[in-house]
Amino acid sequence: MNSLTIATEHSTDEADIRQRIDKLAGAIRARDVEAVISICTTDVVSFDIEPPPQHVGAEAEPKKSEPYQQQAAPPTDTDYGIVINNAANSSVGRLFTVWAEQRQIDTISVVRSARRAQQLAERYPAVPVVSTDKDEWATQVRAIAGRRPISVAVDPVGGQAAADLISLLAPGGTLITYGMLAEENIPLHASALLGNEIGLRGLNIGRWLTGVAPERRASDIAAAAALAATQPSELDVAGTYSLGQITDAVHHVSRAGKIGTVIVHT
Ligand SMILES: NC(=O)c1ccc[n+]([C@@H]2O[C@H](COP(=O)([O-])OP(=O)(O)OC[C@H]3O[C@@H](n4cnc5c(N)ncnc54)[C@H](OP(=O)(O)O)[C@@H]3O)[C@@H](O)[C@H]2O)c1
Repeated sequence: MNSLTIATEHSTDEADIRQRIDKLAGAIRARDVEAVISICTTDVVSFDIEPPPQHVGAEAEPKKSEPYQQQAAPPTDTDYGIVINNAANSSVGRLFTVWAEQRQIDTISVVRSARRAQQLAERYPAVPVVSTDKDEWATQVRAIAGRRPISVAVDPVGGQAAADLISLLAPGGTLITYGMLAEENIPLHASALLGNEIGLRGLNIGRWLTGVAPERRASDIAAAAALAATQPSELDVAGTYSLGQITDAVHHVSRAGKIGTVIVHT
């Protein structure tokens, strides 16, 4: 009987402690200093990574939170912050730019040459573009984002580029991989994901065909059809081949400087 009472008390205490930790973590994530203070007792003694390591009293909380207040806020479900669009000059990348612009989602285009950057800047004057041929490209991306969290990076490249993009993501951000243009692996240490709770996600049209709800597919198709109808210039055709020219068509797909889709007709 006694052991049963103790076990029940333990689980109640444990639930209470967990609830308090969750509440505190939520307040810290939301950078809500008032809520943090309201959770602490006035004589709380707390410890931190930032110097000084020990703080006494709830009034220390605003000072402790200063470094975090200066960081960009974490993304929420409805706040996309800013999205990095890698290989933004690709056919998919350009469609993504237009799609995001129509939904007021801010993007930063990333390309691998100054020439491509120039072309994109002329095509989408309102969308910032950065070229990775400059050593300081990551710093440029951070400067453009400013206080907006980089919540998502969409990437068809992989390799070192994907690892670099991960390092730019805000806490809770996600790298969405939809291609593997780079041949090398993504060099990734677990710490690159751990500290900021970064997510990795693959995306491909095959799974979209079979794995997405019919209503969602219908809405996506309608959005694509509307885009094709209103902005046909976004759907570049790189070349058109007959089935008998399939070898040439396949070579064209990987030809340097190709822009647009290679079409094979019967
Ligand atoms: N997951 C899916 O369901 C799905 C669907 C469609 C496409 N994709 C993938 O999406 C990617 C783009 O397709 P797309 O048809 O839009 O391509 P695209 O029009 O042929 O354009 C390819 C782009 O990628 C850039 N690029 C190539 N290799 C690169 C590298 N190593 N580092 C950085 N940039 C590189 C090129 O840059 P330059 O202009 O500087 O040469 C070019 O802008 C492909 O990998 C494709 O397989 C995936």
